[in-house]
Amino acid sequence: MEKKKKKIRVYLRALEPEDYAKLHQWRNDEEIGRLFSGTRRFTSTLNEKKWVEDKIFDKENVSCAVCLKETDEFIGCMFLYDFNYINRSACGSSFIGVKELWGKGYATDAKVLSLKHAFHDKGLERVWAYVLADNNRSLRMLEKCNYKKEGLLRRANYVDGEFKDLYVLSILREEFDELWEQYEL
Ligand SMILES: CC(C)(COP(=O)(O)OP(=O)(O)OC[C@H]1O[C@@H](n2cnc3c(N)ncnc32)[C@H](O)[C@@H]1OP(=O)(O)O)[C@@H](O)C(=O)NCCC(=O)NCCS
Repeated sequence: MEKKKKKIRVYLRALEPEDYAKLHQWRNDEEIGRLFSGTRRFTSTLNEKKWVEDKIFDKENVSCAVCLKETDEFIGCMFLYDFNYINRSACGSSFIGVKELWGKGYATDAKVLSLKHAFHDKGLERVWAYVLADNNRSLRMLEKCNYKKEGLLRRANYVDGEFKDLYVLSILREEFDELWEQYEL
């Protein structure tokens, strides 16, 4: 008997200028900003407006808002960058800014959509990610998305006054195709 497919509960859309206010709030939240931006930054709303505008006009990289299908609420972002069209690879990163929604599978749903864009629209062969070795939530989310650990970059990131190890993970096209078979839009 065919296994029941998982329904994706979010959609991706382009960033819009008015998204800056939520982004500013999330970037200045220590728990999110530290894991999303690395080093703590003091970011003004003016800078955030420019950041969003730069992303909107950036034709090389992909920066999307993640929204709930049910309410259209903007809850986080998905990014693809460092595209290399000879090696057909790119790096992906993500965050869910609404912390009350963590652990409900929304990042997994959004990552599947972002990977679908990378493999099925952009024709990539490999998507990789860097994750702090103690970011267990992110590691679990990527594991659910069929990413495999490739190696550990020792003391590669300076965060909160200490050097931390960083995992490199990746997912290949056929590994995504296997994952995608479990989903429906
Ligand atoms: C990482 C992040 C994107 C995950 O979002 P999310 O919507 O909570 O992710 P999901 O619910 O899809 O998956 C998280 C999984 O981790 C599990 N988890 C939660 N806390 C955990 C912990 N401390 N240790 C191990 N697993 C944990 C959840 O139970 C879930 O797994 P399950 O479905 O098997 O139960 C979100 O927490 C976030 O934005 N964090 C801050 C920014 C960040 O770290 N970005 C990634 C940078 S590489």
